[in-house]
Amino acid sequence: MLDPTSSTEVFRVRGGAPLRGTVTLSGAKNSALKLMAASLLCDGPLELSQIPAIADVPVMAELLRGTGVEVDLDLGAGTCRLEATDPHPQPPADAVRRIRASLSCLGPLVGRLRRARLALPGGDRIGARAIDLHARGLEAMGASVHHHPGEVEVIAPDLHGAMITLDFPSVGATENLLMAAVLADGLTVIDNAAREPEVQDLCRMLVAMGANIAGIGSPTLEIEGVERLAPVRWETCPDRIEAGTYAMAAAVTGGDVVIERVRPADLTLPLIKLRAAGTVVEEGGSSLRVKADELAPADVVTLPYPGFPTDLQPQMMVLLSQADGTSRCTENVFESRFSFVHELARMGADIEIDGHHALIRGPARLRGATLAGLDVRAGAAGVMAGLVAEGETVVRDVHHIDRGYARFVPRLQALGADIARVPASEFDG
Ligand code: UD1
Repeated sequence: MLDPTSSTEVFRVRGGAPLRGTVTLSGAKNSALKLMAASLLCDGPLELSQIPAIADVPVMAELLRGTGVEVDLDLGAGTCRLEATDPHPQPPADAVRRIRASLSCLGPLVGRLRRARLALPGGDRIGARAIDLHARGLEAMGASVHHHPGEVEVIAPDLHGAMITLDFPSVGATENLLMAAVLADGLTVIDNAAREPEVQDLCRMLVAMGANIAGIGSPTLEIEGVERLAPVRWETCPDRIEAGTYAMAAAVTGGDVVIERVRPADLTLPLIKLRAAGTVVEEGGSSLRVKADELAPADVVTLPYPGFPTDLQPQMMVLLSQADGTSRCTENVFESRFSFVHELARMGADIEIDGHHALIRGPARLRGATLAGLDVRAGAAGVMAGLVAEGETVVRDVHHIDRGYARFVPRLQALGADIARVPASEFDG
């Protein structure tokens, strides 16, 4: 499942079967990777559970090992034990470049060691994804930031608290500044901070480790630096994006799916939009039941949390392509996130793009196609499109999907989907 050569495999999807049954999810990708990076802040051992079996996790483990952290990862059990007794400031460039989330090591290294040297990370290709907000915040805290070719170096012998107002509530910048601030001298205030549930999860774990953070879940975080943090055991929060993806897949196929280990409160706006689109959603304490028959049009605007997540936008577009009427979708977070639309249009979707707005006319009859070069969320959306298309869809570059969705194929198969992971060579030539 986590075969690094997975780009030599494809997903073959045959449309038509409604998804039915129960799927139980694990912890959130966007939380787990940051919790792992936070291990750099104390000499451990940090014991994490509900770590998802996704491809980015072993890369983060390798990166941390290369930074001097002892890492004991058990993907089968979903546990990770990390002990950063004597870390050094320069994570290995090859691992750093493989995942965007490696940038999350910058803040903890600066907090713990007062310096860091990091290759510029990779990950999805969904926009410029600059690091200017990270750099400006660290500079306000007394750091000097040097840009070398393909690398950033931060030196901060006198790291201190500061008043920081972010231009945009960036998830990554909020987390990095937070992780530097917990061990800085004095008070840091981050205004216009990101409020995503995964940011809150990180804040709560840091508090459990002894950090002093007020305003968790609000746009203003106040962090009073402490001398040191202590190790804890922590359970990663559920993956709202994975849950939203299965919910939309259930709805678009006219299915009936129960999703277990979800926090419905993290999905308030996606659930409002699913209901507006004609889906019946029943909320339990930690579960959702999603059923749909006739889909209706809806309008969606992506925004930082609690807005509609950009990470569910491609999946929502697939859903709306099957609704009876015209829907509108506006993307405000990542400038190039509509690139998936061209693939969907090749399958027969009727979508008009004007800048960061899209007009979706449904219901469109989708036909199977070969889809390539999609990022993690667009890849999942491509699979969803395949589940409702006539004939066979081949999704290539599935290593992207493996970065964000644990056991995607077996979980969909268990829900009745006709999907298989097969060697790409079967479709070459
Ligand atoms: C995180 C998530 C990603 C999600 C995104 C928005 C992880 C590993 N990834 O990404 O799945 O789609 O939040 O919810 O958690 N920006 C700048 N300068 C900066 C930082 C960001 O201009 O210094 C811009 C980016 O180019 C982008 C926007 O801000 O247009 C959002 O970025 P950000 O919130 O930082 O996303 P990530 O943390 O990269």
